[in-house]
Amino acid sequence: MELKSYTAQELWDWAFGSVPKFLLLDVRNDKDFARSKVEAPGLWVQNLSYIDFIEEEAESLGKVAAQKDQPVRIVCAKDGSARYVAEVLVKAGFSNVASLAGGITTWGDLLVHKLVHLDQEFELYQFQRPGKGSLSYALVGHAQMWVFDPARVLEPYLTLAKSKGVVITNLFETHLQADYVSGGKALAAATGAKLWGHPGDFAGADYKIGPVTDHQNWELSKNLAVTAIHTPGHTPGSTSYQIAGTFLLTGDALLIHSLGRPDLGGMWEPWAKEEFVTLETKIKAWPDSQILLPGHFSDWTERNPQGLFARSLGEVKALNPEIFLPMKEDEFLAYIQGRVRPQPEEYSVIRTLNLGQGEKSEAELKELDLGKNQCAASTH
Ligand SMILES: [Fe+2]
Repeated sequence: MELKSYTAQELWDWAFGSVPKFLLLDVRNDKDFARSKVEAPGLWVQNLSYIDFIEEEAESLGKVAAQKDQPVRIVCAKDGSARYVAEVLVKAGFSNVASLAGGITTWGDLLVHKLVHLDQEFELYQFQRPGKGSLSYALVGHAQMWVFDPARVLEPYLTLAKSKGVVITNLFETHLQADYVSGGKALAAATGAKLWGHPGDFAGADYKIGPVTDHQNWELSKNLAVTAIHTPGHTPGSTSYQIAGTFLLTGDALLIHSLGRPDLGGMWEPWAKEEFVTLETKIKAWPDSQILLPGHFSDWTERNPQGLFARSLGEVKALNPEIFLPMKEDEFLAYIQGRVRPQPEEYSVIRTLNLGQGEKSEAELKELDLGKNQCAASTH
């Protein structure tokens, strides 16, 4: 029997398109499902382990019987167990069944880019990584492309540069990421681009990364500059990059909902004190008209009507009254302390890798890099 398969890109297109409703059946165990699952607005996801289909086939089929004449898209770790369940469903008379080729990590690695801004001087793109909730950016103009916070999978950036006929010349890290493996070092090696990061995070890196200083400027042309703004707190080296005086790529210094959590380094109080100073002296002074382009998102409701994770500072202030109302340091510390929580155990491994230390196989990296970020100070 020939079984149909589908790709992560197709899953994205269906989830965000206008195709009829389908069931996404995740047949991994509940622990893996809890760690990383496909999320999209309105997506109907059911978790039913393939072990259940092996041990209690009739009962398991009964749990999805209502979907017999509708599309069922199955996902598992690699594809084998999804294909097994697909076979069971097809034999039971299900009419439209397919399994995700390559499994959940292909969804975890998917990047989709969208245009944020276009004028005569430059184009700005947002790369959305739905499996991680992370965002990276490409600034294109004057025959160059500059990438901010590149993810581990490089092909989407290389493809965009090729399609635009430009050369990748500068790479910027907003901070040392804990939740995903950075592509900065590898993209610099692949392209010869110069890599930049703040020494507060990258002083111990085992690779070449240019030290960023507060107010440092990079000119793409005489009319277009990127300016570094040191915004410590989430990490000591956290840096925001302002593009064309308007777009603020903040990493996790400021998110659409909340701020980056300052407890990931295991010393929440000193980092939270720094974050308070950043908030009071820098972030609160940013004009309402500036456009926030964050490094992560927590859920799809943060998107604007154009499908972008982009909001004016005025909107962000209205969305986060608990952060933007006048506050004293002790009130801010109490706010943060109440939200300190454990972090996923793989974060310390990822931080080490992002400093260029340690070796992992591609399969191990894929596995490490799975799962939604937990970077925001508050969950909601
Ligand atoms: Fe972060």
